[in-house]
Amino acid sequence: MVSARRYPRNRRAAAVCRKVKSGFGPYRKKELKPIQVNLIVREVLTLLTSATPSNIKIVHKIGSKSLVLGDAVQIHQVLMNLCTNAIYAMEDNGGTMTISLTDVMLDEGFVMPYPDLHSGGYMKLEVLDTGSGIPSDILDHIFDPFFTTKKPGEGTGMGLSVAHGIIKSSGGEIVVDSTPGSGSAFTVYLPILKNESAIEIESLAALPRGNEHILFIDDEIQIAAVGEEILKRLGYRVTTRNSSLQALDLFRRRPHDFDLVVTDMTMPDLTGDQLIRELIRIRSDIPVILCTGFSRKITEETAATIGARALLMKPLVKKDLAITVRRVLDNAA
Ligand SMILES: Nc1ncnc2c1ncn2[C@@H]1O[C@H](COP(=O)(O)OP(=O)(O)O)[C@@H](O)[C@H]1O
Ligand SMILES: [Mg+2]
Repeated sequence: MVSARRYPRNRRAAAVCRKVKSGFGPYRKKELKPIQVNLIVREVLTLLTSATPSNIKIVHKIGSKSLVLGDAVQIHQVLMNLCTNAIYAMEDNGGTMTISLTDVMLDEGFVMPYPDLHSGGYMKLEVLDTGSGIPSDILDHIFDPFFTTKKPGEGTGMGLSVAHGIIKSSGGEIVVDSTPGSGSAFTVYLPILKNESAIEIESLAALPRGNEHILFIDDEIQIAAVGEEILKRLGYRVTTRNSSLQALDLFRRRPHDFDLVVTDMTMPDLTGDQLIRELIRIRSDIPVILCTGFSRKITEETAATIGARALLMKPLVKKDLAITVRRVLDNAA
C-alpha cells in the first residue's frame, strides 16, 4: 500500500488563490475577521448529520475554541468540501468520517517543508475518512482546478482548488495524507489569532539565543506570558512575576539567581523606575531592561538615568527582545 503526503505548489492552484484573494468572478470577496472555527464545525455537523447515508458514521472531536483570522463563509465552504469528498469516498462501502479540531504548536522542524507556515500556534482542523483513498498518481493533481475523478454532474473538480486558495490566503496550509484502500486525511492548519500583546510569529532560527536566567516582570499576565514564551524558546530560563512588589521580594531573597531583569514601566504599587532603583540597591551590577508602551515619555536617556541598560517598546517584538536581551547580557558579562 502506498502512503503519500502531498501539498499543492502548482501554478494553477496559486492562480485560484490570487482570484480568491481579489474576489474575482465566482470567488466571493473575503472579509477577514476573528472567527471561532468550532462554531463553524458544529454548523457543518448539523447540516451533514441529516444528509449522510446511514452506512457512514460521523465522529467529531472538537478540542479548540481558539480564534483565527478568516472569513466564516469561506471556512464553512472549505469544511463542506472536505466532508462531501470524504462522504463520497465512503458511499459504496460505508465507513467513518472523523472531524477534529485542536490547537497545536508547530515547531521549526515541522514547518520546514511548508514555506508559508511559521513556527507557533496553529489550529488544526482534520477530516479523516476510511474510504477509497487516493492513488498516488492522482494525489499530485487533486488541488488542480477542474481536476475530478467523478462523473459529470457529480463533481466539478473545484472543491479542493478553492479550498486551497482560501486556506492559503488565510495564512494557512492544507495537507493530504492518503493510503489507497484505507482512507484519507485532509489537515488544515490556520494560524491562531493572538491578542494585541502578542508578537508576529516569525522564525526564531536567526535570532541570538542564550541560557541565562531572566526575571520577567509585567503586571499584565498576557504580556508576561508572551515574554516568557519567546525567551524560553530562545533557550533562556525565565521566571515571571505579575507584581513588582512580588518581584522585588523574590529578588531580595535570591539576588544572584538572576542574570537579567526585564521589567514593565507602568505598574501599580511600585512602578518600573522605582523597582529598578530598588533592584540596583540590592545588587548594583544587575542588568535591567525597561519595557514601556509610552514611547514619548521615556527615551533611552531617561531609561539610562533610571538605571536601565536598555529600553524596549511595547508591544514586544520578538526580534527586538531577542537582540536587546543578548546585547545587554553580553555587555554585562
Ligand atoms: N476524501 C477523499 N477520498 C478520495 N478521493 C478524494 C477525496 N477528496 C478528494 N478526492 C479526489 O480529489 C478529486 C478532486 O476533489 P475536488 O477538488 O473536491 O473536486 P470534486 O469533488 O468535484 O471531484 C476528487 O474527484 C477525488 O478524486
Ligand atoms: Mg469536492
